[in-house]
Amino acid sequence: MLDLRSKFPDYYQYHGRNISKKLSLSNVRILNDYYSKYSLDKKILNLSSKTSTEQLLQSNLFKKVIIEVGFGDGEHLIESALSNPKVLFVGSEVYVNGVAKVLKQILEKDIKNIRLCGMNFVYLLNILNQNSIDELKIINPDPWHKKRHFKRRLVNLENIIKIIGIVKNKYASYITTDSESYFNYINEIFSSNSKIIHENKNKILSKNDRLYGVSRYQRKAIKNGKKIYQLTF
Ligand SMILES: C[S@@+](CC[C@H](N)C(=O)[O-])C[C@H]1O[C@@H](n2cnc3c(N)ncnc32)[C@H](O)[C@@H]1O
Repeated sequence: MLDLRSKFPDYYQYHGRNISKKLSLSNVRILNDYYSKYSLDKKILNLSSKTSTEQLLQSNLFKKVIIEVGFGDGEHLIESALSNPKVLFVGSEVYVNGVAKVLKQILEKDIKNIRLCGMNFVYLLNILNQNSIDELKIINPDPWHKKRHFKRRLVNLENIIKIIGIVKNKYASYITTDSESYFNYINEIFSSNSKIIHENKNKILSKNDRLYGVSRYQRKAIKNGKKIYQLTF
């Protein structure tokens, strides 16, 4: 992975952290030795226009394909994969330490139903076939609080249109956020583009909801008294 990042920097470029703290030697080793076995990156770089999403993901043996974008340290991704062995989970994350952490658990727990993409998610989004994915989740994307940084937000009109295209059914794409500003921003995208995208559903999550408290980032927000908003489309 580290070699691909230096050879194809554009694919891995992103505004936030990539490697927040120095990679430990054991993480470098894990990435060098095992990343290619579980990752889609090389396949995406060499993709021909004839390659279908099923071929890319080798998903024919699975009942469903679920994508998690920006999985952070991978807690929700790993838990989901362990409790749904017949579902293929595709995890997208640019944060190298997070990727290494997940890879370590894949090896330790012999998890067979996770594929990883360490590139900026938009490169994965751009190559997936229409109606090829059963569910997509973005758990607390980076909020980019300052107005001048809103353009960095991952959830924008362009990406929403693409996500609607690749996900098979309506209301199978989920975003959670603790940022009221981001929540309002996404709602505004839906309401001002109702001619081209279907409407979304909103909810403030509570304890019994499936995506409540599923990540460290979310739990920290909850502890600080923040609401977790969920948008479904
Ligand atoms: C605020 S963190 C939340 C992490 C995790 N979902 C959680 O709730 O703990 C957002 C994550 O999204 C990742 N991310 C941001 N933009 C991305 C992109 N374009 N492609 C893939 N991952 C991205 C960041 O590296 C970061 O780990």
